[in-house]
Amino acid sequence: MSLRRVTTLDLLAAKREGRPLTMVTAYDWPTGRLVDASGVDCVLVGDSVAMVVAGRASTIPATLEQMIYHGEIVARAASRAMVVVDLPFPLQHLGCRTAVEASARILKETGCQAVKLEGTAGQADVIAAIAAAGIPVMGHVGLRPQAVHQLGGYRMQRDIDTLLADARAAAEAGAFAVVLECIPTEAARLITETIPIPTIGIGAGLHCDGQVLVLHDLVGLSLDRVPRFVRQYADAKLAISEALLAWREDVLQRRFPGAAETLG
Ligand code: KIV
Repeated sequence: MSLRRVTTLDLLAAKREGRPLTMVTAYDWPTGRLVDASGVDCVLVGDSVAMVVAGRASTIPATLEQMIYHGEIVARAASRAMVVVDLPFPLQHLGCRTAVEASARILKETGCQAVKLEGTAGQADVIAAIAAAGIPVMGHVGLRPQAVHQLGGYRMQRDIDTLLADARAAAEAGAFAVVLECIPTEAARLITETIPIPTIGIGAGLHCDGQVLVLHDLVGLSLDRVPRFVRQYADAKLAISEALLAWREDVLQRRFPGAAETLG
């Protein structure tokens, strides 16, 4: 495996060559190190940090300062994967200047390589302005969790014409890739075949150019119910709980510390 940093050109080449792309979220030093070492193409510092790390009910409360705090840690932890940091709500809706200023802060203060923003075709001008500033930008269409209240919940988005128009607008505005969240498989296939940039799916079926999952869902560390499109590859919640119970019991029974953990 090459140790050179993954670039936007690598992602584009992967699409052309039909090599599936992988992206996983990370929010801190250990998860940044582990996700990077797994060989994924991109590490996403998602605004999902507000839910899976901070226990908020949605991603809406995530702030720019919080994204910069977590982004800086993960960008230091990851030496090979492209680090992408989410632009938190509502910065992409406050005009091009505000969005460019916030994206530039993220790039300068975290050391990441790209930003991601949720949006429809209505945010194409913002994507274009960020890209024109030399900041790689990833789009995010379909279910946009920042718009959960407007969308009536975390529901599959089924309007194929709108989905295609949104993804096409992101590509034409200069996005280097686009996340497709919670859309029908056939819509994802059509978008993937139509637009020239990589599509990275979550709950969007097998026909995307790549897949992304939230780390805590993937390793079984999410405490609440996970979406049906998640496959859980480990039970980290169980492993942590069992370790804590065993340690507490050892302390209660005076089995910890033992000779090996006693310094003198
Ligand atoms: O914030 C996040 O983790 C995301 C992924 C679900 C794509 O945007």
